[in-house]
Formats: sequence, structure tokens, C-alpha cells
Amino acid sequence: MKELTTQLLEAARLAPSGSNSQPWRFKIVQAPAIKAKLMAAANGQPFIGAAPVILVCCVDIKGYVASTIATIDAMHAGGQLSAFMAESIRSRTRDLAARAVAFNIGIAGEHIALRALDFGLGTCWVRAFDEVRVRELFGWGENLYVAALMPVGYPAEFPQARPRRPLEELLLS
Ligand SMILES: Cc1cc2nc3c(=O)[nH]c(=O)nc-3n(C[C@H](O)[C@H](O)[C@H](O)COP(=O)(O)O)c2cc1C
Repeated sequence: MKELTTQLLEAARLAPSGSNSQPWRFKIVQAPAIKAKLMAAANGQPFIGAAPVILVCCVDIKGYVASTIATIDAMHAGGQLSAFMAESIRSRTRDLAARAVAFNIGIAGEHIALRALDFGLGTCWVRAFDEVRVRELFGWGENLYVAALMPVGYPAEFPQARPRRPLEELLLS
């Protein structure tokens, strides 16, 4: 499982990100006691305690903002961007930044989910958890935003695919 986990994280590492900021950070959890605490922080969802590996998917908010500003400033200095754009990024609050970086961790996490399929593994995006509780569990400060938990393991069952809306419902007139 260790080698497979490394390969999943390698797929995440190669994901695209805004300004190539690569703000994702991951905690690999295998210890049963920690998984039990994650399960408790995630409303007792039992598969979190049962999966062999939980990837705690986070973003480094300060790093993201600093890296994005550096890129934006360089573009501004090169005449490619207005000063307004750089200023608007600087003035973002933590929450706004967290929302912006969620796109990046979403793409990296989906790289993990799709790569896992190549290995016959199953994953599940988990967002129903207490973010503060998870940060406290690992002693992380507010700078680290815990975006998702991703249990990884071999599927115990193969249910029918869940329905999706037909394409015509998605097209705006
Ligand atoms: C952002 C996001 C958050 C989710 N959070 C949870 C969760 O907390 N618990 C859970 O059991 N499933 C969670 N899911 C899984 C969805 O319920 C599931 O993907 C959806 O019902 C479609 O089913 P499918 O992925 O099997 O096609 C989440 C999925 C996404 C994309």
C-alpha cells in the first residue's frame, strides 16, 4: 500500500494549479487510533475508520497567497497585468483564499481518485467533517486549510453507478 500511496501522491504532485502555486499538502494516515479520531471528526462515517489509508488533503494558504502574489507582481512588472489585480489578491481574506485554493486541491485530489482506479483501488471524497477538529488533531494552525479527507482502499463492493443528469439538463440556453 505504501508504494501505491506514493504513486497516488505523485499523480497529485503533477496536477496543474493557479500560477503554478502547487499549494496542496497531504498527510498520510494509517494508524488505527488516528483513523478513529478522523472518523469521529467526520460524523462517524464508518468507512473512514475501515479504509487502510486516509489521505488528509490540505492547502497551504499563506504559501499559496505568497506564491500567487509573487507571480502576479512579476507579471505586473512585465506589463502583463494591472496593479489592481495584484492588490485584489493581497487583500483577500483567509476564507476567500481558502475558497480560491479549493479549486487547486480539487484538481489534485481528482488526479488521486483517477489514478487509484488504475490500481483497482477505490476512493471517496469526504467533505462532511469538522475542519477545526481535524486541524487540532494534528496540531496544525489556521494556515493549513483541510479541504478533504480521502479514504483509499480496495473496494469491498461494486455497486451500480449512481445516476447523473442528462447532458441536455446541463446546457444553459
Ligand atoms: C466534494 C465532495 C464531497 C463529498 N463528501 C462526502 C462525504 O462526506 N461522505 C460520503 O460518504 N461521500 C461524500 N462524497 C461522495 C458523493 O456522495 C458521491 O461522489 C456522489 O454521491 C456520486 O456518487 P459516485 O461518486 O459513486 O458516482 C463527496 C463527493 C464530493 C465530490
